Amino acid sequence: MKVVITGGAGFIGTNLAIRMQRDEIDVVVFDDFSSGTRENVEASGAPFIDGSILEDAALDEAFHGVHAVVHLAARPSVPLSLADPMASHEVNATGTLKVLEACRRNMIAFVAVASSSSVYGANPTIPKTEDLTPMPMSPYAVSKLAAESYAISYQECFELRTIAFRFFNVYGPFQRADHAYAAVIPAFIDAAFGGRPLLVNGDGEQFRDFTHVDDVTEVLTRAVVASITSERPVNLAFGSRASILDLITVLEDLMGRSLEREHRNPRVGDIQHSRADEHRLRELFPDLRPVALRNGLESTVRWYEEKLKSQ
Ligand SMILES: NC(=O)c1ccc[n+]([C@@H]2O[C@H](COP(=O)([O-])OP(=O)(O)OC[C@H]3O[C@@H](n4cnc5c(N)ncnc54)[C@H](O)[C@@H]3O)[C@@H](O)[C@H]2O)c1
Repeated sequence: MKVVITGGAGFIGTNLAIRMQRDEIDVVVFDDFSSGTRENVEASGAPFIDGSILEDAALDEAFHGVHAVVHLAARPSVPLSLADPMASHEVNATGTLKVLEACRRNMIAFVAVASSSSVYGANPTIPKTEDLTPMPMSPYAVSKLAAESYAISYQECFELRTIAFRFFNVYGPFQRADHAYAAVIPAFIDAAFGGRPLLVNGDGEQFRDFTHVDDVTEVLTRAVVASITSERPVNLAFGSRASILDLITVLEDLMGRSLEREHRNPRVGDIQHSRADEHRLRELFPDLRPVALRNGLESTVRWYEEKLKSQ
């Protein structure tokens, strides 16, 4: 089975390429290296095509003779979308449409698309069931809502087998800590190893549904192999709940020392609390055993430690 991973040089894509190749799936990474790296592709060992999802010819070249596509390529950040809403729309919404059109042209059998819990936005209901009214609070969230809606509509209109997963806060190896928009876990681990204070947005009481990347890649691999589709979006998280302060407590425990923290204003466009309802995911994938937060953080901290040592 040949599978193209768009955004396969990024954080989730690199982990997915490694996971799929373990099952002897023939993976090709398609990436423009805007936030992904060649170092990641070297680590996964997957062949790659350097191209943009905005280029039809490059997509056609990559998708020819392919069984399935996992579409992860995006500008995946709320702050980046505030800095440049047009670019966010172009890559995340128009780019997804272009990927789906290329799938149609190349008769791809199955497509999985990455959406985001950010689509729930200002809707205060917890847990987040997929049927809640989306209330996006940022251009990024709007673009992800468009992306998942396109994927679902292509199933309805063109009989393309699709599934759209709403990822929550994914963490694990290969997540970048070295830029201004880094996600909270790599940013905290990097600050802790660098002896800098952990920057906490707001009071830190906001909670999230942190999901280890191994759980995400497991679900994506099974979805592709069994061609599992859904007419509705599916949360890819397990209903866990940890606040930013809880996260710091676990990190302090793992590192054996207290970590200095500095509170700053909450970020515009960020949602307050987030926790998934996992029922739909469990119906489709009944025997998943998610990685516990402490175990996931422990292996992630060790991965960053090894990486720092080798630099
Ligand atoms: N990491 C999370 O917690 C999280 C949460 C919700 C949703 N998501 C979604 O999951 C997907 C993967 O996110 P990630 O965390 O691995 O981000 P990432 O930035 O590490 O990966 C995105 C990849 O897409 C590539 N890319 C960007 N524009 C492209 C283009 N025009 N053509 C080809 N490639 C392009 C980048 O170079 C990068 O390798 C994204 O769609 C993101 O919106 C992630």
